[in-house]
Amino acid sequence: MLTAATSKNQTLEAEMIEFTLRRPAETRLQVPDINKDARALQKLQKPFCLWLTGLPGAGKSTIANLLEKQLSASGRHTYVLDGDNVRQGLSRDLGFSEADRVENIRRAMEVACLFVDAGLVVIVSFISPYRAERDLARSRFAPDEFVEVYVDAPLGECERRDPKGLYAKARRGELVNFTGIDSDYQPPEAPEIRLDTVAKSPDECVDLILSYLDSKAFHRAAVSESTNGRSLRMAD
Ligand SMILES: Nc1ncnc2c1ncn2[C@@H]1O[C@H](COP(=O)(O)OP(=O)(O)OP(=O)(O)O)[C@@H](O)[C@H]1O
Ligand SMILES: [Mg+2]
Repeated sequence: MLTAATSKNQTLEAEMIEFTLRRPAETRLQVPDINKDARALQKLQKPFCLWLTGLPGAGKSTIANLLEKQLSASGRHTYVLDGDNVRQGLSRDLGFSEADRVENIRRAMEVACLFVDAGLVVIVSFISPYRAERDLARSRFAPDEFVEVYVDAPLGECERRDPKGLYAKARRGELVNFTGIDSDYQPPEAPEIRLDTVAKSPDECVDLILSYLDSKAFHRAAVSESTNGRSLRMAD
């Protein structure tokens, strides 16, 4: 029989386990001497995060891949965090419930933060269906380090493309919680860049992103400033 005392003991035990497993208050932020600026200078680039969001099949992975090739060819140190790849490793324990999607985005956001801190240009290619989670991601970066890119295609077009055959599966009822069918997608209200992937080819979409980055001095200007600073120091 469960008495008040045993019930209280169980509560205490649960609290102790919680305390043992979660102790963020006892951690101290370590500030290494080799910081983000030093790592960025070594790479001669300004680190930042491009966050691609859109319906399944809208073109995020296609554009992320082409964009990374262009950035890499021009000397940028990059990394693509693709939703599918992250779900095969870091997030393999997660499903597609609302709570799991939120946690999936939190992990992507934290990894992107670490990679930006490492001095990289990070391209996140995640459906990231919820506005609140994308806003939370934005808030983890400095204002000049986060660019939200809405990879836009109407649901009908994404379903027609259906590159992985998942819309067809969802329509047959073989997949539940599929974004666009029985799970919500909330389009960005004020993304830095909106790509109309019906009107524009993948290459044109990448050009639009590169033009935006140029216009905001996101990469080339920052690199030449760093280069000047470095060569001065080296000449000394
Ligand atoms: N302008 C465009 N930009 C990107 N992809 C396009 C464009 N026009 C047509 N496509 C085609 O649309 C499909 C997009 O598939 P892709 O895997 O990139 O989508 P995704 O947004 O990453 O989907 P998922 O969220 O399921 O991973 C590809 O077959 C691609 O060739
Ligand atoms: Mg993809």
